[in-house]
Amino acid sequence: MLFDFKGKTIIVTGAGQGIGKEIAKGIVEGGGNVIICDINEETGNATAKELGERASFYRIDCGDSANIRAVIGQILDDYDRVTGLINCAGVISKKPFQDISDEEWERTIRINLTGTFAACSAIYPYFIKNGGGRITNVSSVAGKIGGGLLGTAAYASSKAGVNGLTKAIAKEGGKYGISCNAVCPSFTHTPMTKDLSDDPTQNARVLSIIPLGRAAEPVEIAQMILFFASDAASFVNGEIGDCDGGIVLD
Ligand SMILES: NC(=O)c1ccc[n+]([C@@H]2O[C@H](COP(=O)([O-])OP(=O)(O)OC[C@H]3O[C@@H](n4cnc5c(N)ncnc54)[C@H](O)[C@@H]3O)[C@@H](O)[C@H]2O)c1
Repeated sequence: MLFDFKGKTIIVTGAGQGIGKEIAKGIVEGGGNVIICDINEETGNATAKELGERASFYRIDCGDSANIRAVIGQILDDYDRVTGLINCAGVISKKPFQDISDEEWERTIRINLTGTFAACSAIYPYFIKNGGGRITNVSSVAGKIGGGLLGTAAYASSKAGVNGLTKAIAKEGGKYGISCNAVCPSFTHTPMTKDLSDDPTQNARVLSIIPLGRAAEPVEIAQMILFFASDAASFVNGEIGDCDGGIVLD
């Protein structure tokens, strides 16, 4: 399925691989321009090259708010008009609660939640000045059910925070034409979940929780994110959409 991105220029963090890469592909296939931001220069550059002239790459560290603000500032200087932001960069944390150190907790929250905050905050005044913009955050089913598939407490807390942040921006930004939505995927075959996919016992345990009885392919998650990021969702704002094979059912 294609969504129309003609005339749109969208920043996608974490777009070097996995779900973010599929999002970047969908934007280009829909006729838009995509700005791939990732900490991994190798995959980021390779994805931009693969997608052709309507894709570019900027290195960003979503664990460093100052860097996020500098890179997004640079992008806004380099492009005539940026119309959307998709926050997809994220890291997993899968230790049992009693084994989570302060460092692991802080890093997970810093990259997944504070990084999303900093990127939204860096572009928000620009969107106000330009009469609006669409923000889409990639959250997780973990943020709704307290983890338990792969991610545990720090991950679940970071994604629950992303859900709250999404609703708050939707509420405050609506009057400026800024929409903010989030998508909550469950188990998806990407490099992030390779260990889980490769472990038959854990794989079977997680699949037994998913009513559809299988993991998603990245493109199936990207489709919902692309819908939220497109004008097809022009009246959708503050929605936390489940793309989880039927786990949450709310
Ligand atoms: N795969 C799943 O099962 C699943 C389920 C629910 C939610 N998610 C969420 O989807 C998003 C994408 O996950 P994925 O499965 O494609 O993971 P992935 O590990 O395959 O890709 C994540 C991308 O983010 C980038 N990244 C990591 N840390 C970064 C940082 N500090 N700064 C900039 N970029 C950074 C990585 O380089 C990579 O390109 C994440 O937010 C993840 O939490 C994934």
